[in-house]
Amino acid sequence: MIKILSIFGTRPEAIKMAPLIKALKADSRFDTYVCVTAQHREMLDQVLKIFDIRPDFDLDIMKDRQTLTDITVNALIGLERIIKKLHPDIILVHGDTTTTFAGSLAAFYNKVRVGHVEAGLRTYDKYSPYPEEMNRKLTGAMADIHFSPTDTSRANLLREGVPEGNIYVTGNTVIDALKTTINKDFKFYTEELKKLDYDGKKVLMVTAHRRENLGKPLENICRALKKIAENHKNVEIIYAVHKNPAVRATVFGMLGNVPGVKLLDPLDVDEMHNLMDKCFMVLTDSGGLQEEAPSLGKPVLVLRSETERPEAIKFGTVKLAGADEKRIFEMANTLLTDEKEYLRMANAVNPYGDGRASERIIDSLLYYFGVSGTRPEDFRPPTNQ
Ligand code: UD1
Ligand code: UDP
Repeated sequence: MIKILSIFGTRPEAIKMAPLIKALKADSRFDTYVCVTAQHREMLDQVLKIFDIRPDFDLDIMKDRQTLTDITVNALIGLERIIKKLHPDIILVHGDTTTTFAGSLAAFYNKVRVGHVEAGLRTYDKYSPYPEEMNRKLTGAMADIHFSPTDTSRANLLREGVPEGNIYVTGNTVIDALKTTINKDFKFYTEELKKLDYDGKKVLMVTAHRRENLGKPLENICRALKKIAENHKNVEIIYAVHKNPAVRATVFGMLGNVPGVKLLDPLDVDEMHNLMDKCFMVLTDSGGLQEEAPSLGKPVLVLRSETERPEAIKFGTVKLAGADEKRIFEMANTLLTDEKEYLRMANAVNPYGDGRASERIIDSLLYYFGVSGTRPEDFRPPTNQ
């Protein structure tokens, strides 16, 4: 059996690792362990509950207003203890959080192989997104096997000198997750979502929380949302507000009493995905939402000036709005008033995956460890797109 330790710590990592962990656990060729750093607490536990994942180890490191150093140091110390006890054949990390970096560094220090899921995304701007761009580059430097979601991310790694044979194009596991959560008959359980008039109103789904947007950029975003609500009485803005106290202070302070804007706590992932499926459009600075919404045919305005996920921009479902009040308002206004433009963006496209990424990752691991002699075929976006 191949002994695998998966390490993650935040909401998006948990959502994107959940389908893979489920598939690994169901496969007798793997001895599967899960360690959470719990860089996030409530927001991580929400995901673990929905996907019914019980971690074998929980470092419980989250602190209020934690710094990057707090996360790195506490995760590294805790992870070393577990790696020394478990002696895994390989450690799997996901994406670009500080847990991802600390997990791969802990693996490297203990000479354990690293598999990087969602490998090769790049903006080539060291400070944007901060610290994620550096986290994924450093993780990529330590990884032995890279699971790139798309050809674009594979090409980034090749340019950086990663040997071709170590890269597998798998699609993004977030699409695997989405396939298990979306249900046409889904019943919302959060009161505000139960009561929403999904047919009569245009529901705008919002999340914004990134470190580089804290302060002035987030204030600009809030001003733009207020203006949208004031100018469009047929719009309901649903903003699921991240637990970060710095985010909550700004968002509740500026949008707390604005008619047409509902501020909710972080939603369980099943409600989030089904809300996305029913909404009119998405405004977000999140990476995961930029991948999910296109597959549901929902236009996305990205509240950042760059993205490491250019594929859906190419297909026209995602546009960069930045954190500029005027630009966000104008771009949202166009989509709310110009049906042609809306329909141009509202295309269901799947450049990020076909729901079989976990299967490809498992096949790649079996090939890498010599259990199977067949290298899995790379993921290719469906040809009709
Ligand atoms: C982290 C990741 C980011 C990822 C994001 C997903 C880093 C440096 N950042 O950013 O890459 O996109 O998660 O959401 O790895 N908090 C709670 N409860 C929770 C979660 C957070 O109270 O369940 C509060 C705590 O006060 C914490 C703060 O939010 O100190 C910030 O959390 P942190 O993980 O440091 O940063 P994020 O902005 O969530
Ligand atoms: N998400 C969620 N509840 C929320 C907001 C987001 O379940 O209230 C999900 C979302 O569907 C996506 C993931 O969390 O799968 C994105 O996480 P986040 O925005 O925290 O991180 P990022 O993707 O930017 O790293």
